[in-house]
Amino acid sequence: MAVKQDLRTPIVSVMGHVDHGKTTLLDRIRGSTVAEGEAGAITQHIGATEVPIDTIVSKCGNPALRDKFMVPGLLFIDTPGHHAFTSLRSRGGALADLAIVIVDINEGFMPQTIESLQILKRFKTPFVVVANKIDRIHGWEPQKNAPFIVSYNKQSERVKTELDRKFYEVVGELYNAGFNSERHDRVSDFQRNIGIIPISAVTGEGIADVLMVLLGLAQRFLEGNLHYDASVPGVGTVLEVKEEKGLGATIDVILYDGNLKKGDMIVVGSLGKPLHTKVRALLKPRPLTEIKSEEKFQQVQSVTAAIGVKISAPNLDSALAGSPVRVVTPETVDAISEEILNELEEVQIDTDALGITIKADTIGSLEALVNELKKEKIPIRKATVGDISQRDVVEVAAIEDPFYNVIIGFNVKVLPDAKDKVQSTEIKLFLSDVIYRLIDDYKDWAKEQKE
Ligand code: GTP
Ligand code: MG
Repeated sequence: MAVKQDLRTPIVSVMGHVDHGKTTLLDRIRGSTVAEGEAGAITQHIGATEVPIDTIVSKCGNPALRDKFMVPGLLFIDTPGHHAFTSLRSRGGALADLAIVIVDINEGFMPQTIESLQILKRFKTPFVVVANKIDRIHGWEPQKNAPFIVSYNKQSERVKTELDRKFYEVVGELYNAGFNSERHDRVSDFQRNIGIIPISAVTGEGIADVLMVLLGLAQRFLEGNLHYDASVPGVGTVLEVKEEKGLGATIDVILYDGNLKKGDMIVVGSLGKPLHTKVRALLKPRPLTEIKSEEKFQQVQSVTAAIGVKISAPNLDSALAGSPVRVVTPETVDAISEEILNELEEVQIDTDALGITIKADTIGSLEALVNELKKEKIPIRKATVGDISQRDVVEVAAIEDPFYNVIIGFNVKVLPDAKDKVQSTEIKLFLSDVIYRLIDDYKDWAKEQKE
């Protein structure tokens, strides 16, 4: 059976706690070194990489599989810690078809591991758990790129016992989170049991197993949903707005449904009214490259979902990261603009008359931050996307209640003129790229103030 042309590429989100190895796992699959080049060794934005079926099959070490699987490949989405993922999911409906939750087997479950599971549960997304960093188990003898069981059988009894012990802790934590699980090679029904795959993203042990299980899940759970129709107008999500030499502002997009062509009219969410523009060029990253770091894009006439693609078009400066992109016609443009506007307004958070001011880098992170603050019953005066500007500072400085002379910034910069201004005021700034750290720091500070 050959690849069916009308099957779309499934989207696989890689999720999990900071530093548990999401980017390194993708590096191992692509044969790249993206993780090493990341500022602060942390993923700050969502990325996307297309891995063709031939690469997957050859990594699995069994060319005969080529005939068994019908998807054209997998589109992997790299998520930073957890943030923005929520919005990608809610914007895109079922953007992720499948997911990998990665957990450092030596560290066990951490807050973002649990958060990832909650998101997947909410969206009913099929997933596998990857128990990473087995090479860190004391006495481990690495077997480069070997399937897990081959490597496991070569370890000493002591090492095997230690791996099993840590492994069952992961099983226990998954049970506490509401999931029955078992080692992937012992799962007979992936609908009833979550498979856990022990791997090392550094030595490549177990990577073939991950790819095999994903293909199996894609085949089993998704086949019916993956048919795509070339006449469906493209629908996607903006990952990033980026200035490119010679092109001006461009947007990196994950197209998760339908079809997008050069010359198409598109509507994109923006800070004010959604913007309309015409696609001037479609730039496709090479397979196996991370769209975020790709430099040699290939110009194409059209693309079909799911794919990561850079769009060059006039007037993209005001496009908003995290917002929808949709292909429109003169007949649909008004209705679709309205839909996007409504969708974005839902995000334009209900605010309180008096409260703190928050800024975040994308719609997704803003939503996540607002939700967390609401849980803590912390009032919010204003919540917007973007860096902290002089205007923000002036507004906040004018508030009389010192409890609310506060700006919380998630993954944003303080613009230079705002920095100068802050120094001449009593404003308290909380800046971080970890949501719960911002909340904790603010709560600690507020408690101190009350005392
Ligand atoms: P964020 O994107 O910031 O959430 O982190 P991440 O989950 O993408 O983690 P990343 O891949 O950046 O890895 C974090 C660190 O763990 C890096 O120093 C990696 O080299 C290391 N690491 C990842 N996987 C393994 C592994 O299997 N074994 C060992 N020994 N180290 C690993
Ligand atoms: Mg990462």
